[in-house]
Amino acid sequence: MPTPAHPFDALMDITARPQTVFVRGEGSYLWDDTGKRYLDFIQGWAVNCLGHAPACVADAIAAQAKVLITPSPAYYNAAGLKLAKALVDHSCFDQVFFANSGAEANEGAIKLARKYGALHKDGAFEIITFEGGFHGRTLATMSASGKKAFEPLFEPKVAGFRKAKLNDLASVKQLINDNTVAVMLEPIQGEAGVWPATDQFLKELRALTQEHGLLLIFDEIQTGMGRTGVLFHYEHAEIAPDIMTLGKGIGGGVPLAVLLATGKASCFEHGDQGGTFNGNPLMCAVGLAVLEAVSAPSFLKAASEAGLYLESELQKLSARHGLGEVRGRGLLLALDLKLPIGASIVEQALEAGLLLNSPQPDALRFMPALNVTREEIAEMIEGLDSILTKAGAARRVA
Ligand SMILES: Cc1ncc(COP(=O)(O)O)c(C=O)c1O
Repeated sequence: MPTPAHPFDALMDITARPQTVFVRGEGSYLWDDTGKRYLDFIQGWAVNCLGHAPACVADAIAAQAKVLITPSPAYYNAAGLKLAKALVDHSCFDQVFFANSGAEANEGAIKLARKYGALHKDGAFEIITFEGGFHGRTLATMSASGKKAFEPLFEPKVAGFRKAKLNDLASVKQLINDNTVAVMLEPIQGEAGVWPATDQFLKELRALTQEHGLLLIFDEIQTGMGRTGVLFHYEHAEIAPDIMTLGKGIGGGVPLAVLLATGKASCFEHGDQGGTFNGNPLMCAVGLAVLEAVSAPSFLKAASEAGLYLESELQKLSARHGLGEVRGRGLLLALDLKLPIGASIVEQALEAGLLLNSPQPDALRFMPALNVTREEIAEMIEGLDSILTKAGAARRVA
């Protein structure tokens, strides 16, 4: 038996991974340890909004690492304060708490809502979330998620989450009771297969939560930071949530997440929330560089145009191969394959040097860098086209 070049067995086997080992990335491309190049339309799971190893991220890390990595969260640091102020200035929120992962930011949002309930709503603690929703892998965020596969895992779940149906206001209304303190959702359900809430539903949800004195929590970990063509997705619906969480894109590839709240909702008291690495200057310096790049109007305009181009190319591809709808917004799109062939397409794409994701057996999800070029989109479409042609031919023979 050949000795494997890499010690795979030293890692806990938590998911099926191909044996590819990546060693380098640049923009929309990755290289493995054999020198093979891959066009990346996964980008760290919608994380690398500026592509692989962008100079502004590398420079921010290098510069900050030379002066201060962390003074401890018991003290203020300049980079953290700057990023907090920049986020507040670019959004409808008044205060932020930094975290290290999306799940941790959501865990913070859940705690903040419960604190608000304890202070202002007679101890109300229930949060209405949505079937199909995904909020992370801590116990509370798994409990908040509406992912079917999570249901039998790690029982008992954290109590206090009731699931409504996306785009069905009556299903939300039905679940409101004296214990309800908040409604929490992803404006586009990413992991479920890219299912968008309509702007109308989001507007109605805002009105309903206001009518009942409930907090509205947007999980923008996947949709935020320009992913859907505006800095934050809530802007599309022209509403202002009370709480928002960011992750993925804000760090441009490094572990940084944020819990943002309006002055009314920002009610933590000393001792309620914290964490050793939270708000460390190394990550915050990167967040600042990323926010500066992504929030530039010309950058958002180009990302939005790239999204429209990708969408129209996917629609043409779908028509050529008799596939289903293209859904999503900006550079978070899915193609309905109509058949459970997603895993096989992903495997063939990897072989062909193209990284694609299939969040559900019958769908492909596209989440390239926000600065992806038209040429790179065309290259991806060409690669996928030839895989679909082969798959179609195989079906006709079978
Ligand atoms: C909408 C949403 N919320 C939360 C998370 C969890 O983030 P993390 O994996 O950084 O904990 C994800 C990750 O995919 C996500 O897409």
